[in-house]
Amino acid sequence: TYEKLWLAAAMVLIVGFIATITYGAVGPGVSMIDDDGGSIDPDAISDHERFGDTGVTHVGGNEYEVDVVAQAWSYSPGEIEVPAGSEVTFYVTSRDVTHSFSVVGTNINTMVIPGEVSKMTVEFDEPGEYGILCNEYCGEGHHNMEGKLTVV
Ligand code: CUA
Repeated sequence: TYEKLWLAAAMVLIVGFIATITYGAVGPGVSMIDDDGGSIDPDAISDHERFGDTGVTHVGGNEYEVDVVAQAWSYSPGEIEVPAGSEVTFYVTSRDVTHSFSVVGTNINTMVIPGEVSKMTVEFDEPGEYGILCNEYCGEGHHNMEGKLTVV
């Protein structure tokens, strides 16, 4: 009957979805970075298409992407510059231990976990200077772990 056919088709779809998700999660060299962030191999950051070359990328219009790698006890890049009126999406990961990436005076305050990519977007309307801080204790140099973001 048609009911059995539909059931079979649904099963095929479900198995297909599971296979796709499993492959995405454990497949070789695959990093999933989507609207919620994603995962990354912390030992292969230097070769990663996004994090191998950190910094600011103009992606069109007023949109910018900033790729940041945190490591004890600094950020790469340490200084970030974006124009006023820009919409900036940060992608942040850690090379070693858990840090945080907090842009003082904005709503950006996220944990940065090795193997994971934190993604967040913020708009900078006015020129100004913002401190970047690590709020997660990460060892003896934790209190020196900082950066600077300048909106020009
Ligand atoms: Cu990095 Cu605290």
